[in-house]
Amino acid sequence: MLSKKMEEALNAQVNAEFWSAYLYLSMSNHFAAAGNQGFANWFSIQFQEEQAHATIFMKYVLSCGGKVTLAPIAGVKTEWKSPLEAFEDTLAHERKVTALIHDLCVLADEEKDFGTANMLKWFVDEQIEEEANAQELIDSLKMIKDNGFGLYMLDKELKARVYTTPAPLATSAE
Ligand code: FEO
Repeated sequence: MLSKKMEEALNAQVNAEFWSAYLYLSMSNHFAAAGNQGFANWFSIQFQEEQAHATIFMKYVLSCGGKVTLAPIAGVKTEWKSPLEAFEDTLAHERKVTALIHDLCVLADEEKDFGTANMLKWFVDEQIEEEANAQELIDSLKMIKDNGFGLYMLDKELKARVYTTPAPLATSAE
């Protein structure tokens, strides 16, 4: 059973994950309109992953007998000057999400809520990967600078990214 405070904190995280999804959907639409189908694809998969993250939290709250309360999703940015700016926004945002996940871990420890602490472990690892992925693309884009062929090749590479169901949802579907 979740404390009221933990239930509210997990519901706030559901909203944060949907906001992340909304941000990446906005980036995906921006790049699709600009003709960068690879960048659009990468952010579209990011959009799907964030919805999956929200779903993991919602399923967990429900499995503990808690109530999921969906709050309005705040607006997001709609224009980026370059792919580099979008990935820099991505890294800055993922660092904020990492801090939110760590705050939840601290709360779970304070409350001796071992079930929630255990569920959060997957997210701690996931955030390391999220930040590393964004950093890697920032590094590539800084090397490419405004070289058109380099951007074309990276866009082509990112077109190949495919969505895979995150482990906690894959397991619960079995
Ligand atoms: Fe759900 Fe990108 O963190």
